[in-house]
Amino acid sequence: MRTYKIAVMPGDGIGPEVVAGALAVLKAAEERFGFTTEKRHIAGGANDYLKTGKLFADYADELSECEAILFGSMGDPRVTPGILERGYILAMRQDFQQSANVRPVRLYPGVETPIKNVTPENCDFVIVRENTEGSYVGQGSTVHEGTPNAVAMQESLNTRQGIERVVDYAFRLALGRRKKLTLCHKTNVLVAAGKLWQTTVNELAKLYPEVSVDYCHVDAMCFHMPLDPARFDVVVTDNLFGDIITDLGAVIQGGLGVSTSANVNLEGTHPSMFEAIHGSAPDIAGKGWANPAGSVLSLSLLLGHLGEGKAAAAIEAATVRVIGELKAMAGPEMGLNTAEIGQRIAELVAAGDYDTELIPDPLVSTLATLPASRRG
Ligand code: IPM
Ligand code: MG
Repeated sequence: MRTYKIAVMPGDGIGPEVVAGALAVLKAAEERFGFTTEKRHIAGGANDYLKTGKLFADYADELSECEAILFGSMGDPRVTPGILERGYILAMRQDFQQSANVRPVRLYPGVETPIKNVTPENCDFVIVRENTEGSYVGQGSTVHEGTPNAVAMQESLNTRQGIERVVDYAFRLALGRRKKLTLCHKTNVLVAAGKLWQTTVNELAKLYPEVSVDYCHVDAMCFHMPLDPARFDVVVTDNLFGDIITDLGAVIQGGLGVSTSANVNLEGTHPSMFEAIHGSAPDIAGKGWANPAGSVLSLSLLLGHLGEGKAAAAIEAATVRVIGELKAMAGPEMGLNTAEIGQRIAELVAAGDYDTELIPDPLVSTLATLPASRRG
């Protein structure tokens, strides 16, 4: 029997509710597809931090023993903003070298988008966000703080190696899709970093001649994404631009409730982490209003990453069917509460009652069958 060791870190706010939904679906998938998971539950988050002062570094060893991490969300009004975000999310991405943050932008059938003319047929692309460098390294300094002459400097770190590994990954993803790669940057203003990104893309393009390469400034990207999403297949970009444009992507695909992500360690030296894109939403925690679809879809990516492509595709298809049936994407009018949505997806997976044909080229299977790198 195939067995995987998975860390489960639900975190704060709506995190535990949505992760509970994902775990119900995991149980159904295990039974149907004949694999098991050994789960290690790790508290983490605000309550734990307020009680013990613990942050990611205190759990790194335990997490390292697992093959993948199912993550909820972190953030709590009782903790100074930044402590948990930096102390958990960014620390994990950087210390575990989860250098590719893969964020699919796909409008699923039946999901409402606020953007006119966006359809399931024209909206299916994936953003690969560099996840360990850029302005997220936290390098900066302030002088004359608190005076009228205050000066703050915030640096952006870009290394050839760091860029190359995500660009290479993006090319490989593109090979399994529509074979188009777009670099998103601001090379006309951030000339030093921009040049390194552009040069790296140009050089790797020679190794992947089947993939056509394009470039888009980040501001123009915000213009084209909602108006002409079909223009994009795989987009690769730096950490900060990726943070920003993936929120826009979430809007286009019908909201944060259905958006998901994989934080992939490309070298296999540490576990990868899978999370919905939404935050902890403390204002609605415990009300049952959160849509667990983002977390369930992150489970689908997790299983695809572990090589369980069939289970991954089944979960995606069942989730799509259930979210298509919901009246709204979140809130008390959704029709079903958080637990009921998770249960309903789990039931469909258990019964084999989903149509994988509805979702051609699921990203999850692409992850399961990623072609090898052509780098030396
Ligand atoms: C995200 C979030 C995080 C980020 C925050 C919570 C630190 O916005 O995953 O996109 O900026 O990366
Ligand atoms: Mg963000």
